Amino acid sequence: MDISKISAVGSPKSKMIYHENPEQLHIGTLQKHCYFIPFGADECPFDSRENSSRFELLNGEWEFGYYNSIIDMEDDFVGLPFDKMIHVPSNWQLWGYDKPQYTNVCYPIPFDPPYVPDDIPVGVYRRNYDYTPDGLDRILTFEGADSCLYLYVNGEFAGYTQVSHNTAEFDITPYLHEGENSITAAVLKWCDGTYLEDQDKFRLSGIFRDVYVLSRPKKRLENYIVKTVLSNDMSSARLEFTPFCCDVRAVLSDSDNNVISEIFADDGKTASCNISAPVLWSAEKPYLYNLTIFAGDEVIGERVGFRKISIENGVVKINGKAVKFKGVNRHDSYPDTGYYASYEQMKNDIILMKKHNINAVRTSHYPNSPLFYQLCDELGMYVIDEADMESHGCVEVYNDFKWSRGYNGIALLASDERFKKAILDRSESLVKRDINRPCVVFWSLGNESGYGTNMLAAGELVKSLDDTRLLHYESTHKLDDTSDEILDVVSEMYTSPENMMKFLEKEDEKRPFILCEYCHAMGNGPGDLEDYHNIFYSNERFCGGFVWEWSDHACPLGVTDDGRAKYGYGGDFGEKHNDGNFCMDALTYPDRTPHTGLLELKQVYRPVRVENGENAGSFIFRSMLEFENAGQILDCAYEITQDGRKVAEGYVSFDLPPMGRTEIVISDAAVRFDRETYIRFIFTVKKSTPFCEKGYEMCFDQIKLCDAAEKIQCSDNNTVISLDDSPLYVTVSVGAVSYRFNKRLSEFDSIKFDGRELLDRPMQFNFFRAPVDNDVMKDEWYRAHLNDHTLKNYGVTANVTAEGAVISLRQSFGWSIHQPFAYMDTEYVISSGGLDIRCKAEFSNKVTFLPRFGIRLFVPKAFDRVDYFGYGPYESYIDKHQADYIGNFTANIRDMHEDYIRPQENGSHFGCRHMTVSDGRINLRFTAENDFSFNASEYTEEELAAKRHNFELQKCESNVICVDSKMAGVGSNSCGPALADKYRLPLPNISAKLHMEIYK
Ligand code: GAL
Ligand code: MG
Repeated sequence: MDISKISAVGSPKSKMIYHENPEQLHIGTLQKHCYFIPFGADECPFDSRENSSRFELLNGEWEFGYYNSIIDMEDDFVGLPFDKMIHVPSNWQLWGYDKPQYTNVCYPIPFDPPYVPDDIPVGVYRRNYDYTPDGLDRILTFEGADSCLYLYVNGEFAGYTQVSHNTAEFDITPYLHEGENSITAAVLKWCDGTYLEDQDKFRLSGIFRDVYVLSRPKKRLENYIVKTVLSNDMSSARLEFTPFCCDVRAVLSDSDNNVISEIFADDGKTASCNISAPVLWSAEKPYLYNLTIFAGDEVIGERVGFRKISIENGVVKINGKAVKFKGVNRHDSYPDTGYYASYEQMKNDIILMKKHNINAVRTSHYPNSPLFYQLCDELGMYVIDEADMESHGCVEVYNDFKWSRGYNGIALLASDERFKKAILDRSESLVKRDINRPCVVFWSLGNESGYGTNMLAAGELVKSLDDTRLLHYESTHKLDDTSDEILDVVSEMYTSPENMMKFLEKEDEKRPFILCEYCHAMGNGPGDLEDYHNIFYSNERFCGGFVWEWSDHACPLGVTDDGRAKYGYGGDFGEKHNDGNFCMDALTYPDRTPHTGLLELKQVYRPVRVENGENAGSFIFRSMLEFENAGQILDCAYEITQDGRKVAEGYVSFDLPPMGRTEIVISDAAVRFDRETYIRFIFTVKKSTPFCEKGYEMCFDQIKLCDAAEKIQCSDNNTVISLDDSPLYVTVSVGAVSYRFNKRLSEFDSIKFDGRELLDRPMQFNFFRAPVDNDVMKDEWYRAHLNDHTLKNYGVTANVTAEGAVISLRQSFGWSIHQPFAYMDTEYVISSGGLDIRCKAEFSNKVTFLPRFGIRLFVPKAFDRVDYFGYGPYESYIDKHQADYIGNFTANIRDMHEDYIRPQENGSHFGCRHMTVSDGRINLRFTAENDFSFNASEYTEEELAAKRHNFELQKCESNVICVDSKMAGVGSNSCGPALADKYRLPLPNISAKLHMEIYK
């Protein structure tokens, strides 16, 4: 709607005419330039910006007026009193105005570019600003406002801007008068830019990043470019400095403030100085020089890192060395502050990443706060810096409701002339703002917008602005044949391991390959991190990848009675369209508590890997670091355990050059062992660093020294066995234990020890698990009724043999409509050694993926202690146990639950030899023919599957024990490839032998 036609001529409202016009992107804003904050001549320009006398932060409480529709705004809304206040920066949906909406691919508005709905919600922000003329201009700066902003100063229209995650500066000096002035910003929820900001996130609005005023002289340094050029052998470097609009003097000093060089550069001219033997910057060794820039009466502090990113023979190199990006994708998303990321929040994120061996971040899918990059420079993190650009929702245009036309429609705007200027604008803002940041090694044109002429033009623009970084974009989908040769790397997402290997066979493709997203970390997962790691290291043209994603996105829903935060996801806010819990797909919970997936990632990304050496007691330490000597930054201790008990320990001092190998000899390990024996090397931080305290465990490695001795069969059959076979029951008593098999149920409905009942419900076969987010085939389980089947018994026989009392039966499991989904032959053998369960099942074609195969017991609550020998202490699965090691672990059942926000299968332990559940007196001990998995939980699978949120879960009146001969892997199929065959259960035929022993 043309707002000027529905408002009084010349009124503030009548100026709101740009938000449906992709040719008019910024009105009244200053030229784009590199980020910097000027300080006064006598100030330290490397201080935090709040300490600059030229910087005035306007964060805080602003008056706020909220309109459901722009149409309802008064013509002169700028001068009206507003009785509400809102915090700046934040998103208004977190303050009770409007509602959060979570949508992934689909646009939140009808697809009708460049138009948006007529009823656009608007938030009007207003505050006073005191001004005393001092000859300096006042530059009002917004670092982020979603989706666009109209600015008024003292009632006068001062400008317009869009592109939510970019800085906009307005010179407001001409509008100011001495004393109190008023600043008003009207922020619209939607504008034509909304079509280019369709990132997978909660859709939130408002002024969400810092707002400040810079006081600057009229003639001032407007921009500058720092470029570092390294000689081929890295032994010398040239620093090139180009200032704009001002002549400057700049002084380069090292991190100890020793002056290295002085540069005089005239406006628009490049001056340079040479540095011999520069200390290089890398994520592992983030050495920074200080460049102090004197420009008129302003002084500016710039950190400089000497590093070179290049491609040689299809291999990405930093400072001449092949590198792997061990990366994550990170959104600015916090449950309490929405899109706002404070310095502390960002710093904590980067520290947490560093502590989990992550070396790279993709700023998915927009530029972050400028301070984020300073932190990455200082703490050491490679960055793929991405433009605020995604038009994913276009993919729906060509598809009908059945999604039958495929993916290329995503590129609808990628070649649309109407959006060319806007797409170029987004790339230009990205590069111009962050051009001086050493941490940035790739520019990325955006995400999921398809490829076309506009993207090519954006790539050309980026290359013309900067020739020192690589260009990234995932260009898989196109509607035309625009060449993507301009891109320096081939980037894909969620490619399967097999297809990655096929990439290497493409003869006409010489570029490196990067996975800009992989291992979708949704819920309980990902299960394929180590497999991808092995592929990355199988060929130098693979330069690593970025796990999707760093943190779950959530909006708060209050707290539980016991004070736990309640997190909401898509669908919790009455959204018109939502994508459910697809926003909970990360390595950390919304409050940054690590998921077990992050612990897994930490181990997969570990700096040192240990392998068996050739001789007894010898081991090979392999470095995964590219620049550091691991022996200089890590201490190493070892412990040797036999049957889970520690038998030796010690320290290793080692020297391990980058990417090198070294042999270590541990005499304690050279001994001949005769029991199951492991050595575990634990690497801890040698000296405290800016991100890590001394002694912090960076990683470990466990190596088996000796296999288990033969399993001892403990069947002494001297005890008298009594068997009573009545029409409906078989009752067997051996010593203190009595078992009752219920023929009608085909299950044991009672097992007593010394007269004490151990089963609260009949013991069942169990094929179902509460679907994890990656169990995309779960509908099949529900159609087959794995979760609530009925049993058919084809006949039971019972007799006492030399082995013990044997109960045999054939049974089937099914529901209505279909044939039974499984037939099973089972033999229960009861002796003084306990209960043996031997079963063989054949599954029908209704089941193509079986989550588990085992038994389930409901034991009285008092049985809450668990002791196991297997992969712990964290939950572990066949494809997710890198963070665990084999050992003896003891836990209380209440601590074994992993509290995923959308409840799902959790807390299993893989690779177990034995497991005991006990009430402190009676023990139920489980073993199996092969290593098995188990869960011990306060919740049933049915409960975990039924509830949408963790805070809705009701505990079961019993403790639920699942003993699984096999449990399927968890994978990352919610967005990634299907679970690999090696992590699945064999079908259609599967058999198991489990054993339960009961004793005091
Ligand atoms: C990718 C996309 C991400 C996110 C992810 C699924 O396709 O680039 O933004 O949506 O899928 O969680
Ligand atoms: Mg998307």
